[in-house]
Amino acid sequence: MADSTKTAKLTIDGKDYELPIHSPTAGPDVIDIRKLYAQAGVFTYDPGFTSTASCDSTITYIDGGKGELLHRGYPIDQLAEKSHYLEVCYLLLYGELPSPAQLEDFESRVTNHTMIHEQMMYLFRGYRRDAHPMAIMVGVVGALSAFYHDSTDISDPWQREVASIRMIAKLPTIAAMAYKYSIGQPFVYPRNDLDYASNFLRMCFAVPAADYEVNPILSRAMDRIFTLHADHEQNASTSTVRLASSSGANPFACIAAGIACLWGPAHGGANQACLEMLQEIGTPDRIPEYIARAKDKDDPFRLMGFGHRVYKNFDPRAKVMKQSADEVLDLLGVEDNPTLQVAKELEKAALADPYFTDKKLFPNVDFYSGIILEAMGFPTSMFTPIFALSRTVGWISQWKEMISDPQLKIGRPRQLYHGETLRDYVDIENR
Ligand code: SDX
Repeated sequence: MADSTKTAKLTIDGKDYELPIHSPTAGPDVIDIRKLYAQAGVFTYDPGFTSTASCDSTITYIDGGKGELLHRGYPIDQLAEKSHYLEVCYLLLYGELPSPAQLEDFESRVTNHTMIHEQMMYLFRGYRRDAHPMAIMVGVVGALSAFYHDSTDISDPWQREVASIRMIAKLPTIAAMAYKYSIGQPFVYPRNDLDYASNFLRMCFAVPAADYEVNPILSRAMDRIFTLHADHEQNASTSTVRLASSSGANPFACIAAGIACLWGPAHGGANQACLEMLQEIGTPDRIPEYIARAKDKDDPFRLMGFGHRVYKNFDPRAKVMKQSADEVLDLLGVEDNPTLQVAKELEKAALADPYFTDKKLFPNVDFYSGIILEAMGFPTSMFTPIFALSRTVGWISQWKEMISDPQLKIGRPRQLYHGETLRDYVDIENR
């Protein structure tokens, strides 16, 4: 780790402490505080961890100021234009772009593991039909550990590899089954002769009573949505997966924890919340009312799909997503979709308003993905499940990196305590 001779000097109560500084290949230097408590008897304080590096990673890098997102060094706009989701999965998992033979082998391994154990169908029957698909995904993905015992020993690299392939392969099947269950239609089995995105669209929209042909423009847009959501440094759900994995929990349980965290409207649930907000606004003439609410400090309302914890420039994924939105809506002839009209007018109004531009609150990945998914025919409740299946490879890549780190130990943050100090119990008759 010692990749710098620089140090930081800290003076506490007149005593000096030298803390090592590590210099990354990209991004800010980090001050190593691992020995601070032992040396100085103090903690650091950073609720939300916005100034804290939780790990040493080589997978994804974001420059929030430049609006840059790199996966193993490759910029997201080039990957979205020239690559495809399973190739990006390979890149995230193994660190390099695959050779043709490596890609063919990887795609074959994923394709041949897309079915789930037949017994798992009964898990769906236990849910109400109106259950949110994320509630089903959290449950069914966690339950994979009850069916695939031969890939839960995280100390075995081969079992880690098998669990990784199984989750990348099976999440689309589980998400599609959650959707079919919610609309009372029969489950559609995956097909090995279809690519990943086409398979997912067919499992969602085909019915036994008719043939179903996937439109190549829609499957390309779907694949691009998967790619744009694949990984994103140490966001809330990825940090959840890392912390859960640090206890040695099985990989299926850890990914289920990530799905649970992603569900929140401030995170992966924002695409559903964004579309519901656009539908609530309804018509462009009501946009000023909602912008005023978003700016009102006394109103908890925020513009869903705007702003980001890290990007203080345009989210590079939103730029690519916007191109796909135009292609899909042109194809489907819904360019006059009222929700899209509101979206376009809202984006224009917000980007012309100093409140948003001064605070660097630009449209994020969720602003356009919801519009595309709605145009494709997905209900808003399926937006976050699609985000979850896309992000599974990112969670798994970060999990594999952490589990194979020889310095791995269980995560255990401390606290700034302002509660009561020691006091004796008072019997109820004396209270
Ligand atoms: C994702 O981390 C990741 O990488 C996440 C993600 C990924 O790929 O994993 O990128 C996916 O989660 C994208 C973000 C989706 N969330 C939303 O679209 C929900 C709406 N956005 C906000 O809730 C908010 O912007 C957050 C949660 C995303 C970020 O919140 P922060 O860190 O508090 O934002 P900030 O520090 O930049 O806020 C600066 C100011 C604050 O006001 P002041 O206290 O300075 O007066 O801007 C305000 C905020 O209140 N603000 C907003 C706003 N977002 C921030 N005001 C109105 N509308 C908004 N959307």
